[in-house]
Amino acid sequence: MNITGLENNDLKLIIFGGKGGVGKSSCAIATALALSVKFKTLLISTDPAHSLSDCLEQPIGFKVTQIIGNENLSAIEVIADEALSNFKKDHLDELKKLLETSTNLDNNDINEMLTLSIPGIDEVMSFKTIIDFIEEGKFEKYVVDTAPTGHALRLMSSPKMLNEWIKVAARMRWKYRYMITSFAGTYHQDEVDALLISLKRTVKRIENILSDRVKCEFIPVCIPEAMSILETMRLLSELESFQISASQIVINNVILSQDCDFCRRRKAGQSKYLLQINESFPGLNKVEIPLFAEEIKGLPALQKLGSSLFGNQDIN
Ligand SMILES: Nc1ncnc2c1ncn2[C@@H]1O[C@H](COP(=O)(O)OP(=O)(O)O)[C@@H](O)[C@H]1O
Ligand SMILES: [Mg+2]
Repeated sequence: MNITGLENNDLKLIIFGGKGGVGKSSCAIATALALSVKFKTLLISTDPAHSLSDCLEQPIGFKVTQIIGNENLSAIEVIADEALSNFKKDHLDELKKLLETSTNLDNNDINEMLTLSIPGIDEVMSFKTIIDFIEEGKFEKYVVDTAPTGHALRLMSSPKMLNEWIKVAARMRWKYRYMITSFAGTYHQDEVDALLISLKRTVKRIENILSDRVKCEFIPVCIPEAMSILETMRLLSELESFQISASQIVINNVILSQDCDFCRRRKAGQSKYLLQINESFPGLNKVEIPLFAEEIKGLPALQKLGSSLFGNQDIN
């Protein structure tokens, strides 16, 4: 089977995830390349390991960069730490005021609190960067390469985590608001309320797009090995709990060759796991990709992987 449905015009966000080293980046880049034949595509990496630059053999950073020789494909590495430090820089005053008006902390404590992380905020901010791109609408497809499972799950659960924080902050604010109203008779929304409202809106926007089966698809990548299958099961059940849609799975590094004893033994070893994958993920379209003799590096290798993912489908 091949990857299907990505050319659907309404599908905007395609996210690849899975265990470390199974081929997420290779599949995400090859998919973006294949889609860029017809669609203006933005390839986004949220993996701090900077693998886009290595695989595409050109520098990519925290800035949309066009891929050399391909007008339809651009890439960016969105790093959570950087997105978070931008957020803190932009909103330090509001965060300080939130703590000043809603707690009994002194200045030293407040400054210390501000150095602590707000749960989920770094990932939400990197997701916000992605959603801002989608809403800006400069591209038709957005392909996301994530860091290994734990990180991808954190990314997916970040809206929920931040939502809890916003609820607590809003409750603290409500007390402050009550106090002001009692003294002054009236209360006007200030910049802290505005920040909480805008964070809440961001969380909602992220949840809306992630749970929209028409606009967003998550593609797990696994290999025929025990650990990878276990991790994929965990990933899929978490995705389901976040109402994120997955309809197909890439099974990478499948050994085809029977030419030598080593290959035959590896192939035999994989066959029980391929069976297990079939049984464990009955509802998913299975896309098997062979283990190539060479690593996936540079455009020709990525295009070869793309042909394997999409078969002879015409995405044109
Ligand atoms: N089908 C394949 N055949 C041969 N090498 C592969 C294949 N898929 C991935 N690789 C290689 O395996 C390594 C890990 O792939 P990568 O895409 O970086 O994984 P991940 O992003 O999941 O960590 C890379 O060196 C890549 O070139
Ligand atoms: Mg990677």
